Amino acid sequence: MAPGRARVAASILDADFANLGNAVRRCERSGADRIHLDVMDGHFVPNLTFGARTIKSLRRVTRLPFDAHLMISEPGRYVDEYIDAGCDSITIHVEVEEPISPTLGKIRRAGRAAGLSLRPATPLSALEPYQELLDIVMVMTVEPGFGGQKFMKDVARAKLLPARDLLRHKAVGGEVHVDGGVNRETAEFAGGQGVDVLVVGSALWIKGHDMGREIRLIKALADEGYQYELNAGVPPIPRDKWVSFARLPKTFAKRFMDEIEAGGIPVLMLRGNGQINPDGVRDYEVMVPASAEALTAERHADARDRYLQDAEDWRRALRAAG
Ligand code: DX5
Ligand code: ZN
Repeated sequence: MAPGRARVAASILDADFANLGNAVRRCERSGADRIHLDVMDGHFVPNLTFGARTIKSLRRVTRLPFDAHLMISEPGRYVDEYIDAGCDSITIHVEVEEPISPTLGKIRRAGRAAGLSLRPATPLSALEPYQELLDIVMVMTVEPGFGGQKFMKDVARAKLLPARDLLRHKAVGGEVHVDGGVNRETAEFAGGQGVDVLVVGSALWIKGHDMGREIRLIKALADEGYQYELNAGVPPIPRDKWVSFARLPKTFAKRFMDEIEAGGIPVLMLRGNGQINPDGVRDYEVMVPASAEALTAERHADARDRYLQDAEDWRRALRAAG
């Protein structure tokens, strides 16, 4: 299948808790992109699941990234345990009655992605004070606590697209997650609202259904939604695609790379099939993620023209000297 844009995070909330290791392995084999771990404390939500110890044990059975969704009243008190358990991202709820910024800061300092989630009734504006600390906005389209509930379309319509805006400080890598009631009936709509990650729980655990097919369908439908609602009918750019932004001699490429990266856009320098310079060294490709190509051009097209000109002058000087 063509690598698309949408990602599926498989929630194991509806799996057989007597064999979570198997459940996680099955998600991986079936093409899930991440594992979504619903931690509930019986207090913030009226249900109880598992904690950091279970996650730490599961960490050994898969290489997939772990997204922890902490539906607990005191995330600040326990967050270290989830960092230590090997979670790649940790999302807490904005409704908790304790300071939020220190916990988000801690997650980020540990090199993990930090997220805030919100109940269906909580307005998106509740996240604004923490905007600069966010890598993930997780919009709940069911009341947290249980799998298998109905997707709240009105909530999705009101919040998913605007949630993007809260991540505008991140040139690349910011993610909107949608959690609750996502299945083959609702994935196209969610994709049409620009979500990056679809959390899928009960739809993956229906007896007799092929989990791999369910994941493929959900991703394809989400990408269709994105293509026709938001991308003028053009298929989305796969997330892992990189494009060449400039071809420059090494020292120029290095300088340009640092400039671009200072603005939060990641750059790769590759020796491609550029010309060979008078000093015998081939030009480097300055590569950026395709999803950030337009932004890179907007910010750095003028600088690129200057670098290309400087490189040309440098080559000419070298040739004249040699
Ligand atoms: C609900 C959890 C969800 C849940 C989604 O509180 O946060 O992650 O697993 O399950 P479905 O897909 O069945 O709504
Ligand atoms: Zn969840």
